[in-house]
Parts: sequence; structure tokens; C-alpha cells
Amino acid sequence: MDKIIIRGGKPLSGRIPISGAKNAALTLLPAAILTEEPLTLRNLPRLADIDTFTHLLNQHGVSMILEGSRPEEFGRVMTLKASRITSTVAPYDIVRRMRASVLVLGPLLARCGEATVSLPGGCAIGTRPIDLHLKGLEALGAKIELAQGYVKAMAPDGLKGGVVRFPFVSVGATENILMAATLADGETIIENAAREPEIVDLANCLTAMGAEIEGVGTERIVVKGKTRLHGATYAVMADRIEAGSYACAAAITGGELELVGINADTMGSVIQAFEEAGVSITASRNSLRVARSNGGLKGISVTTAPYPGFPTDMQAQFMAMLALADGASVLTETIFENRYMHVPELARMGADIQVRGRSAFVRGAEFLTGAPVMATDLRASMSLVIAGLAARGETTVSRIYHLDRGYERLEEKLSAVGADIERVSAG
Ligand code: UD1
Repeated sequence: MDKIIIRGGKPLSGRIPISGAKNAALTLLPAAILTEEPLTLRNLPRLADIDTFTHLLNQHGVSMILEGSRPEEFGRVMTLKASRITSTVAPYDIVRRMRASVLVLGPLLARCGEATVSLPGGCAIGTRPIDLHLKGLEALGAKIELAQGYVKAMAPDGLKGGVVRFPFVSVGATENILMAATLADGETIIENAAREPEIVDLANCLTAMGAEIEGVGTERIVVKGKTRLHGATYAVMADRIEAGSYACAAAITGGELELVGINADTMGSVIQAFEEAGVSITASRNSLRVARSNGGLKGISVTTAPYPGFPTDMQAQFMAMLALADGASVLTETIFENRYMHVPELARMGADIQVRGRSAFVRGAEFLTGAPVMATDLRASMSLVIAGLAARGETTVSRIYHLDRGYERLEEKLSAVGADIERVSAG
């Protein structure tokens, strides 16, 4: 299994191109099921999760052509065509590898009147049920059965518009219902909808495919169902979490990076937290400049929340950065119950972190030391890389398949800005 070796202590400096957003791509890909016409997605990131998702779509009968990247964009261009859905079953073997597979449920049901999707089961960062997805589809007239670890959803006469009131915000459930509602008969109202930029990206793509959607980016989305959607070409938004992760790397190493391709408007709460921590951020039209040249990092309090709050997907990376701040920090995780698996690994590098309930108390250390550490989930793994970039000596991160799920060409991007980082094959 491959490992990443980092020799820390080099301030990063230069430009990093930000890839297409993993979480946007993972909801734009299943949107292809909604039409028999081609959907061309540009700026697709090159990630293991995208490969897993295209494999899933393939076995539903969706064909795809990969065209490579355009000169002005880093990502790839893929044309998906769901002329005929040949199977409405999403098997356990794929769904267990990637929870986002559940996003085929709404589109398959809307297009074919039935879908059978394996329950995703637990995952490293918590139990993560899909009850909200199912209740939402029931509100659109679907009959749901659970048997042998699978969800079977049926709507033989098609879905009907309805009112879906989520008791709390769910990104995935909002995406599933939004996609399903575009082909439902009549109007659907989604209340307490997620407002994440990735939802806006999905809605913009669906609109380009002929859907009629209002209230995108607010907590009340109204969809007027259509009998069919058509093909479109759409560019995936840039990855705000990748950008935020590299910003942490710049800050912890006392460096200066220009993150190219990112829309700063999608990063409001993260930018605010950086500024509170003493990191200077300059946003321009298509990039973000991050610098920590004068003065050290300051301890801050951060609480994760649905967008526009501070993203749970940035919590681990901030914790690594704050492990070297002056003074104390408190990070409180409100979205997932088990998202502190990076804490014992960061502690092995010399970080002073105590977890009590949902909060982690971080006392800034004078320095971190390199150590062998183990990646546990995607963002936790990135926190170890960030810590390793600033630590004294050598850090070896193992189980890096987690990183490959969500960070495109990580070592290449970081070495290009001065990091001493390499991937080695451990045989
Ligand atoms: C998405 C993101 C993930 C991010 C998360 C929160 C993708 C592919 N993944 O995950 O990176 O960390 O949003 O921003 O886009 N819940 C239920 N029942 C449900 C659905 C969710 O109880 O039916 C709970 C979850 O366990 C969690 C909370 O709701 O505690 C929020 O989860 P949700 O927003 O649905 O996350 P995902 O869509 O899975």
C-alpha cells in the first residue's frame, strides 16, 4: 500500500490550481440519469470517488466518454448518456465503498418508477442514516420497503409533487429530493433545504437541463416538475474544501499561496475563521491569496454548522493548523458524532488536544514532530498531511487511499509550491 512521506518545515510558496469540487461532482454525475440526452460535465476532478461513481452509473446502463481536459481548465471533460437505464439496482459492493452512491436513488426512481439501493451502512465518521432521503421520497408518493439490507423504492405511476419538510439540514437528502422533484408531476416544496454551494451547483446544472427551480441557495426550494429534461454542458464548481485545506497548509508553514480557480464567495465562514486566527486572506475574482508572513497564528473557537456555517469538512484541517497557534482553541463538531479520529494521530506528533463530548480543546504547542501516522478518513488524513508539512523531521502517512478519494494529485500540487513530499509504494 502506498504511503506519503513528508519532511516538514518548508514554508509553502507559489500557486496551486484548485480542482473541481468532489462533492459537487458526486451529485452532478447522477443527474445524468434524469435524461436520455447527453450531459457533458467539465472540470471533473481526477479522484477515486469519481471513478467509483462512474463505475456505478455504468452498471445502471449509463455510457460515458472521457475527453481529457481543456487547456484553460485542469479537470477532465466527461459526457454521460443514459439513453436507456438497464438496471435500477445499486449493489452493496459499490454503495458500501462510497456513501454518495445513495444519490442515484432519487434520479432512478424519478426516471424509471423504481430503484433498489443498498443501505450504505456505517462509515468511519458516524452512523449516517438515510431516513431523511426516504421520508422525502415518500412525500413525493414513493412506496419504500426495506429488505435484506436494501431500500426498494417504487412509484409505478411516477412521482407526484409534494411538500418535504426536513427536521434538520441534510446535504444529500436535499440533493436526492431536488433531483427527483425535477421529473415529478406538479410542484415540490423543500423546506429546511441545505444551502451548500454544491446544492446551488446541482440546481444550476438541472436548470441548464430544463428544470424549473426557485429559491436555490435558500432554505425553501420550489421545483416545478417537467415531463422530461434535456442534455446540457456544465462545468463543476471549484472545490472550496480543497482550497481551504491548502490555505491551512500555507498558514501552518508560515508561507504564502495563491489558490487559483476558487470562488471566495463559497468560503465566507472559512475565510472569517482564518482571519480571526491571524491569517491574511486576499480574495480576487478567481483566486485567493493566503499568507502568514507577519506574526504567529492565534487560537480561535470554531463550531461546525450547515452552510453558511463553518463546514465540518474543514474541522480536522483547522485543528492541525491550530495545534501550532499561540494560545488555546476550541473546535465543536455538531454535524457528525465521530469526527475526531485525527486527534490521537495529531497527539502522536506532539499536539495537545483534549476531547470532551462534542468539543476538542487545543492548546497551541511550540512545535510538532514528525511521526508515522495513519489516515482514517478523508479530511482526517489531510489534517495529518498539514501537520506533517510543519513538523520537525519526517512524517509517514499510511492508508492514503483515503486521500486519493478527495485530493487530486496531492503530492504534485504540494511539491510544486516547495513541500518536501513524496509518495512511496510500500509493495
Ligand atoms: C455531505 C458531504 C460531506 C459533508 C456533509 C456535511 C457529499 C458527498 N458529502 O454528506 O462531505 O461532510 O455533507 O456537510 O456531498 N442525516 C440523518 N439522516 C439522513 C441524512 C443525514 O440523520 O437521512 C444526518 C447525518 O448522519 C449527519 C447530518 O444529518 O449527522 C448531516 O448529514 P448530510 O448533510 O446528509 O451529509 P451527507 O450528505 O452524507
